[in-house]
Amino acid sequence: MKTELIKDILTSKPDGRIVTVCGWVRTMRDSKNLVFIQVNDGSCFANIQLTFDRTNPSNPNNANEIENALSNISTGASLKATGKLIESQGAGQAVEVNLETLEVLGKCPSDYPIQKKAATMEFLRENAHLRGRTNTFGAVFRMRSQMAYAVHTFFQERGFFYINTPEITGSDCEGAGEMFQVTTLSLEKLAEVAIEKGAAGMKKEDAAKLVNYGKDFFGKPVSLTVSGQLEAETLATSLGRVYTFGPTFRAENSNTTRHLAEFWMCEPEMAFFDLNDDMDIQEEFIKYLLNWALTKCSEDMEFFNKRIQPGVIDTLKHVVETPFKRVSYTEAVAELEKHADEFEFKPYWGCDLATEHERYLTEKIYKCPVMVYNYPKEIKAFYMKLNDDGKTVKAVDVLVPGLGEIIGGSEREESYDKLLARINELGLKPEDYSWYLDLRKFGTVPHSGFGLGFERLLLYVTGMQNIRDVIPYPRAPKLADF
Ligand code: 4AD
Ligand code: MG
Repeated sequence: MKTELIKDILTSKPDGRIVTVCGWVRTMRDSKNLVFIQVNDGSCFANIQLTFDRTNPSNPNNANEIENALSNISTGASLKATGKLIESQGAGQAVEVNLETLEVLGKCPSDYPIQKKAATMEFLRENAHLRGRTNTFGAVFRMRSQMAYAVHTFFQERGFFYINTPEITGSDCEGAGEMFQVTTLSLEKLAEVAIEKGAAGMKKEDAAKLVNYGKDFFGKPVSLTVSGQLEAETLATSLGRVYTFGPTFRAENSNTTRHLAEFWMCEPEMAFFDLNDDMDIQEEFIKYLLNWALTKCSEDMEFFNKRIQPGVIDTLKHVVETPFKRVSYTEAVAELEKHADEFEFKPYWGCDLATEHERYLTEKIYKCPVMVYNYPKEIKAFYMKLNDDGKTVKAVDVLVPGLGEIIGGSEREESYDKLLARINELGLKPEDYSWYLDLRKFGTVPHSGFGLGFERLLLYVTGMQNIRDVIPYPRAPKLADF
């Protein structure tokens, strides 16, 4: 059954040719002689209008069949229709289809949850398997696809190779201990053994010995990745410029509108890039993505602008045209300290920037995207390049209004000795990082990279308020439905 997409039919000439339309009914209006059916197939925001005029003498003589089908149609029903594509008589659409045949593929009973009355986002989240049929989620998921396409195009146009880093890994890239352990050992069995051995009176060290990783699938403890960066570095220091783009997992207990336990991260890694090169390409990248949304997804953007976040189009346009503000962490904290009474957590040199600080910088002080660089080493990951001051590292976070952090990146420590010293200083085990240290031992080069949170990007572009609404099936604390 080859059918045309509604998006193609809507943009073709209304020359009276016969078209076949397949989709789901959004609304039907049946007024004595005239029937109007709005059908959507997800290919674009707009519906196509099917019309049937009972008084039209040139109707095909299958009126009974059509009437029978019409009696089985309600919001949500799926159908296949054929008819003449003509210029629309009514306002609101350029073309319409005069029904010639109508087949109901699947009826839709009245307990269909996606009715016309505006449902809350919470309700739609509970019905995530059907929410793609609403205007909002159709637009969001089309945008998600477009932004992924744009990510690939941006890097492919610039000589980057798309690589795939492992989802199951033994290393905690960010060192935050927020990993989901992957195991085939049975927790129930372990509990039984523990009871048998009288675990209640056992010392902690002895209890830990009850777990025999030798019997686990991989023969050692492993987890879902929090970042593909370390492995990406091995390929950047062989292929030059690479990027990974895939699912990333964090077991952080953050029940916020900006955190997911499973999110997508795009992580480019570039040999011979210093921190300034890194910041340049981050800015170019974000502008490229926003410009793509504005120019290639205008129909869905119009909807976001009208119904989701008034003004979002102007905001994105402004960002595309304005240079990002670059400030050192030290300058940023000095600015924040001037407004100390505005914050729940008082800012001071050495503190990790909280969301309230990040948003204040980008929304109140600079009023544009801000790149904060050279953070104190204590609040950043072990792999970042130490500055000559011995106190700060070549890290950068990109902060945007309404959201806070959208990108985290850095120049990587390329000195074997300095990296080893940092690993030891943090109490990490050098043997766990031997392959990573090898990159510094054998032909080390300056290199940099960053991670863009894909759902954070989507929040920014669509103006949606909750990160759980820009991924089809969100995972968060106590939430893993579907
Ligand atoms: O700042 P992060 O933790 O940086 C890294 O993981 C580096 N290894 C990246 C690199 O240099 N290759 O995470 C990067 C971005 C954040 O800026 C944020 O946009 C997003 O990933 N992110 C999350 N998005 C949704 N839910 C979460 N729990 C997120 N944690 C980070
Ligand atoms: Mg970060």
